[in-house]
Parts: sequence; structure tokens; C-alpha cells
Amino acid sequence: MPTSQPKPPLNVILIGFMGCGKTTIGARLANLLGFDFIDTDSLIVAKAGKPIPLIFKDRGEAEFRELETSILDDLHRESRQRCVISTGGGIVTQPSNLEKMRSLGVIVWLTTSSQTLWQRLKRNRDRPMLHTENPRKTFDELLAARQPLYQSLADLTIDSSGLTPDEAAYGMSESVRFFFNPTA
Ligand code: S3P
Repeated sequence: MPTSQPKPPLNVILIGFMGCGKTTIGARLANLLGFDFIDTDSLIVAKAGKPIPLIFKDRGEAEFRELETSILDDLHRESRQRCVISTGGGIVTQPSNLEKMRSLGVIVWLTTSSQTLWQRLKRNRDRPMLHTENPRKTFDELLAARQPLYQSLADLTIDSSGLTPDEAAYGMSESVRFFFNPTA
């Protein structure tokens, strides 16, 4: 009797905190794998017709999260395959998103040190989640709350500390190839 082979995943889903390099490294990873690159934040901006800080200002975080979930539903409806999908750092906070992400493909958590993240984020004004009275405290709290969520969702973790975006993308491509072609 023929043994059934496990099905290869459909896509690569990148998760991780703001500033970890999902978009930069994800685009390079897509290039190395010959996949399309999709960024959920860009799709949200296109759907809402305004930049993310303005979506938060006009409609609040709850409506941003609804848009984010609707993007996952769109990707399912369109049966997207062979894509690297970079996601916003807060996508894991909505329990209903977790299964939607799992069924889209193999999930890779991109990490780097909290010092590096904070250095990248502290002067950036495009992250409304950090527009608070004490951004450093908010950063610490969000990071502490989200790390266990990334960890429990990830099939694979890549630490990009000390690596250039090209090095991180190359390392990731070698690791995820195994999921797509386990016998190679
Ligand atoms: C958010 C992260 C952002 C973006 C939005 C909310 C978050 O994406 O989705 O500002 O809650 O962490 P990046 O992780 O690409 O910065």
C-alpha cells in the first residue's frame, strides 16, 4: 500500500515583534525561494486607503485588528500559495488569527535582542502602539506579553542577532526549504 506523504506547507508566514526585520528579511527570503512577497500591513493600508497611524487615529486599534483579520481571510479566500507573508507584530494578539495563520503555512518567528529592537523603534513615529506617555514601558510590556505568543505559534525560530538581512534571509531559506522539500 502506498504510504501517504505529508503535504508541504502552502506559504511561509513571518511573525515577530515590531522592528525585528520581517519586511526587509521577508522580501529577501521570498527572492531566494522564488516565492511572492506579501506584507499584511501594506494590504491593510491599501484596503483602508490610509496609512497605519491614521487608521489608529481615526478608527482605533480594534478596527485595525478587524482589518488585519480580514486580510488573513482574504489570503485564505484567494488560496494563496508559495508566498512569504510578513505580518504585523500584533497579529498574534487576536486568538482567532492563530488558526488562520497556521493553516496558511509554516510559521517562522524572527527574533533579535530587545536592545536592538528598542534602538530601531525609539525614534520611529510610524508605530502607533508606541505612541504612549512612556513608550519604553509600553515596549517592555508588549514584548513580555507577546513573546510567549510568538513562541507557541512558531514552527521555526530564527535569531537574526549579529546577522545582516542577507545572512538572516539565507539562513532562513535553508531552514524552510526542508519544510517544502523534506526528502531533498
Ligand atoms: C503593530 C505592528 C505594526 C503594525 C501596527 C501594529 C503591533 O507592524 O501592524 O502598527 O501591534 O505590534 P510591524 O510589526 O511590521 O511594525
